[in-house]
Amino acid sequence: MTVDRSLADSQRRNFLKGSAIAAISPFAASPALAQPPASLPDGDPRALRAVEMTINGQRRRLSLDARTSLLDALRDHAGLTGTKKGCDQGQCGACTVHVDGRRILSCLMLAVAADGAAITTIEGLASETGELHPMQQAFIDQDAFQCGFCTPGQILSGIACVREGHAETEHDIREYMSGNICRCAAYPNIVAAIQQAKPLMEG
Ligand code: FES
Ligand code: FES
Repeated sequence: MTVDRSLADSQRRNFLKGSAIAAISPFAASPALAQPPASLPDGDPRALRAVEMTINGQRRRLSLDARTSLLDALRDHAGLTGTKKGCDQGQCGACTVHVDGRRILSCLMLAVAADGAAITTIEGLASETGELHPMQQAFIDQDAFQCGFCTPGQILSGIACVREGHAETEHDIREYMSGNICRCAAYPNIVAAIQQAKPLMEG
């Protein structure tokens, strides 16, 4: 069976841009916070705390249970569902975001630990005019995803991989991308995408 390449590219472009639309949506999509009991003993982690972060260039103030992971804060409280929850225990890389420029597994970081930090998610990569980041475009050009579930994390990790200087060789890319699992086994295409994006990011 043949697949129309331009149609497939169009669908993939829309897939990647869809998350960006959520990024500029108002906060109304966020679910209501569960309210803790009226009186809590001092230090009770259920007490809501104010956490301020700059997410994709926008200052956000969230009221969070101290036990909330950065991943849940982004998805459930900031309404940014482009970052995916795979294992929720640091094994798959689907939740990768940048915190102050460094790639982080957001399922392993408490949101309160990111207070004051600058966060970048997949929704924050495209320009305001909708132009994709070179790494996003490369993933489309190289057919580097199938179901797409791992893709936001792969792209954030791929960008970090280049910035860290760990994309000089195919071996290095595979080594430094090894924390990002792809159940569809798109690995050769992911390597090709990073190799395509690297000179564009450095140029
Ligand atoms: S969801 Fe965080 S590493 Fe899998
Ligand atoms: S594209 Fe399906 S898990 Fe990676």
